[in-house]
Amino acid sequence: MKTLSSIIKANNENLLPENKVLGIAGSPRKNGNSDVLLRQVLKGVSHENIECGAIQLRDIQFQGCIGCEKCRKDKICTGLKDGMSLIYSQIITSKALVLVSPTHNYNITSWMKAFIDRLYCFYNFENTRPRAWSSQLADQGRKAVLIAVCEQETQKDMGFTLEAMRVPMEALGYQVIGEQAIFRIFDRGKVKEDTEGMEKAFTLGQNLAKTLI
Ligand SMILES: Cc1cc2nc3c(=O)[nH]c(=O)nc-3n(C[C@H](O)[C@H](O)[C@H](O)COP(=O)(O)O)c2cc1C
Repeated sequence: MKTLSSIIKANNENLLPENKVLGIAGSPRKNGNSDVLLRQVLKGVSHENIECGAIQLRDIQFQGCIGCEKCRKDKICTGLKDGMSLIYSQIITSKALVLVSPTHNYNITSWMKAFIDRLYCFYNFENTRPRAWSSQLADQGRKAVLIAVCEQETQKDMGFTLEAMRVPMEALGYQVIGEQAIFRIFDRGKVKEDTEGMEKAFTLGQNLAKTLI
């Protein structure tokens, strides 16, 4: 496993990412719909012979950003030492991310929100007010796919779930090459029976992989 100092060094040297995909799922429910969907996207990625890995945010002990701003100098989060410290290197070295979140109260889950907030360390800020900013991850060909799943039937019921992932990912410098919104799924793992949805998730994975080839 890479040490925090080697991550900081690699990041400061602005190493380019590798052609691999990292999937991040934000549901607290093991073997739930988000897990099924993430596995399906990554099957599509593997089908195109692109390396991939997956992280279940519920399995890593981490907390939300505390706003200490130590990352302004260090260019990585050094204010907290937790599960996120272990996965920053994977984020930096993976050219593509797949984010999957169920809708919780019209939005992403608190796990996914905390994860996205912890990517704050990748921003560079100037000393102007309001501070001009750029992302350390920009202009490196990074891509993302976003998936949301909810129980109810309409876009209104899903609320901001996709937007809450899209806007920050784009700000960080990821090109979102595909999104999927899945409705009317409540029971754990029930999305497996949604043939069309499962096919689309697989295709999204294939399309993502093809952007990296
Ligand atoms: C705390 C909580 C809040 C939820 N809020 C919404 C909601 O706002 N809209 C909706 O359509 N479904 C909502 N749901 C239902 C989930 O989005 C749905 O069951 C989804 O399939 C769960 O995916 P998972 O198995 O990956 O956890 C909520 C579920 C929970 C537990």
